[in-house]
Formats: sequence, C-alpha cells, structure tokens
Amino acid sequence: MPLMISHERVEIELGDRSYPILIGSGLLNDPMSFAKVPDSASALIVTNTTVAPLYAATLSKVISSRFRSVRLLELPDGEAHKDWQTLNLIFDALLSHGCDRKTVLFALGGGVVGDMTGFAAASYMRGVPFVQVPTTLLAQVDSSVGGKTAINHPLGKNMIGAFYQPQLVLCDLATLNTLPPRELSAGLAEIIKYGPIYDMDFLAWIETNIDALVAREPAALAHAVKRSCEIKAAVVGQDERETGLRAILNFGHTFGHAIESGLGYGEWLHGEAVGCGMVMAAHLSERLGGIDAAFVQRLTALIQRAGLPVVAPALGVERYLELMRIDKKSEAGEIRFVVLDKPGSAIMRGAPDAMVREVLAQCCAA
Ligand code: NAD
Ligand code: GLY
Repeated sequence: MPLMISHERVEIELGDRSYPILIGSGLLNDPMSFAKVPDSASALIVTNTTVAPLYAATLSKVISSRFRSVRLLELPDGEAHKDWQTLNLIFDALLSHGCDRKTVLFALGGGVVGDMTGFAAASYMRGVPFVQVPTTLLAQVDSSVGGKTAINHPLGKNMIGAFYQPQLVLCDLATLNTLPPRELSAGLAEIIKYGPIYDMDFLAWIETNIDALVAREPAALAHAVKRSCEIKAAVVGQDERETGLRAILNFGHTFGHAIESGLGYGEWLHGEAVGCGMVMAAHLSERLGGIDAAFVQRLTALIQRAGLPVVAPALGVERYLELMRIDKKSEAGEIRFVVLDKPGSAIMRGAPDAMVREVLAQCCAA
C-alpha cells in the first residue's frame, strides 16, 4: 500500500455526514489524498479562470484513475460572479454532459468557487457528492469547512443557499504560495476571528506569529490552518445548522456583510470586510460591557498588523442600518450582533439603536 504524503487530519464529526479535513503541503499531487472519494464514473472539477491554469491539470491528472471521465468547468473569477447566472453554468455543464447523481463535484478554488459548487452539489438531482479543494487561506480555515453553501443576492450577501456537507476537504498548503498578499491578509482575518470568540491561547499565538504568517512561513501557516479547522470542527460538530452556538463564527460579519454589499460585491474582499467588521463589533462589545478598551485596542492592532483595513467606509449610518437589517441573524426586523461577552467568548444579541449609531459614527471614515 503506497504511503500518503505527510499531513495533519481534523475530523468533522456529524454522524453519517462526518468527513476529514486533510492538511499538508503537496497533497494535491498525491492520489492517496483522494482515497475516500466515493466511486463514480464521472467527476466535474469546478474552478475559475485564475485557479484553472495553476492547479486544474494537477487535480485532473491525480484523480483521473478514479473516474472514466473528468471534466473541467472554469467560472468567471470574483465575488461579483457569486450569483444565479454563474451558478447556472454549473447546472448547464452537468446536464449537457449527462452527469448522473453519482457524479462527484470538485470545488477547486477559494470560497466563491467552494460556496457555489457546494450549492450546486446540494441541488443537482437533489444532491450529489462533492469535495472541497480550497486554494485560498480563507477557504482553508473557514469556508470549505462546515457545509455552508450559498450565492449572493443584490439585496444581501449569501442570502440563498443550503447546508450541505462535502465528503472531504483537502487543504494543500503549497497552493498558498501563489496567493496575492491581499488575499493572504483576507484569510488572516478569519484566523484571527477564532481567538477572541473561542480561544485566547490561540489569539496570543497569532500575536506572536503574525509576522511569520504574513511571510508565509510554512510551519506557522500549518499550525494556523490546523487550529482554525479544529475550532471550526468543534463548533460545527455541536451546532451544524446554526440554531445557536455556530453564530459566534459570524463575529464581525454583520458589519462586514454591510460593507461588502454596500460598496458592491468585490470592492472590499470578504476577509477585509470581516477584519474591519471585527473592529466595529469589538467597539460594540466594549459599549455593552463585555470587554475593555484595552482589548479593543489589542484586537485592532493585530488586525492592522495582518494588513487589513480598520476604518470602515463612509456608507452613511442610515445605509448601514438598512443593510444590516437584511442580515440572516435579524429577527422581526431587529439586528442581532455577535459580540464578545468576555475575551475568548461570544454571544449573539441585539443592541440599543443609539449605541449602534455611536459605533458606526466612531468607526467609519469621515
Ligand atoms: P475568492 O474565492 O474570491 O478567492 C480570492 C481570489 O484568489 C480569487 O481571485 C481567486 O481566483 C484567487 N485564488 C484562489 N486560489 C488561489 C491561489 N492558490 N493562487 C492565486 N490565486 C488564487 O475569495 P475567498 O476569500 O477565498 O472566499 C470568500 C468567499 O467565501 C466569500 O464569498 C464569502 O462569503 C465566502 N465564505 C463562506 C464561508 C462558509 O462558511 N461557506 C465562510 C467564509 C467565507
Ligand atoms: N463562516 C461562518 C460559518 O461557517 O458558520
């Protein structure tokens, strides 16, 4: 039996929907990485025009012995294309190639490709198996794990989607070497997130290692991806469909999603909006009494050192409120925020309107 390339493994424990996350450098070149992929006659690799020239041939070759046919679909690149029209290209490809309900979809790319391919897998013939092969830092530490799939609507981010778990998540750390620096920083935002909401030791580790992470030191990246996946696995394992605890993973996202849709999808990267959104959520947490000003400053400084913006765009207070009301966490028109009730712990709650307005006035550019 050939040995598999050296890697770490994190399990997502969800009964009969459990699956492993494999983390290592060079996994994409190793056929053994895909040993657990279900047998089928056909596979469709969904990727985009940026990632295809980098990694599609490698993936196609490595899985070719497992399938009679391996087809490739290149979507247009970018958050602005995370929509119905682009999703439909996946269905067009599946139907025009006569793909059956055992066809395995491979999502090769960042969170945009992963979320759309997952949604297509959830709905094509009412569900076909899919594999996440995340190639951005953000996708390796967050979006490929946990089964949230979605597309955007012009009125709201990720508003249309499904919970649908992959069969396998394969994080090849070597793919991060080709990532533009701005995209690396965007991924660091979601890594930082896990500290204040769940694990203060991890926050301290990130503070010590932030320069190594920005410099893409392999050992630092490997630890950050693994620990992030462990935390996400622990949360998702307790609350797969976000009836409670899982909402903490949206720390910074209520403000962040408003920035993304308010500016137009793709203007700020998702991770940039989340980074700045965490600064805003930290200020709100301070006003609600969960953390002190020193902790807000500590978090802000780390987000800045990760190369992320910490001043929110001037969309106007009323526009922010309008956008945040469309958030999935809103109930009966009340905006609900994930805030820190103490360092290392988060809850979801409403906040007085006047307080939210003060935070917006404080955090937005003049
Ligand atoms: P992305 O998918 O747009 O990828 C960022 C850019 O990097 C793209 O231009 C992409 O083509 C390029 N790229 C990807 N891999 C590359 C590589 N190895 N080398 C060079 N370029 C590469 O953005 P993202 O930050 O990966 O994901 C953001 C999306 O993820 C958002 O739509 C967000 O809503 C979603 N998301 C989903 C979840 C979830 O739980 N499902 C969680 C967090 C974020
Ligand atoms: N990214 C938030 C979640 O997966 O729940």
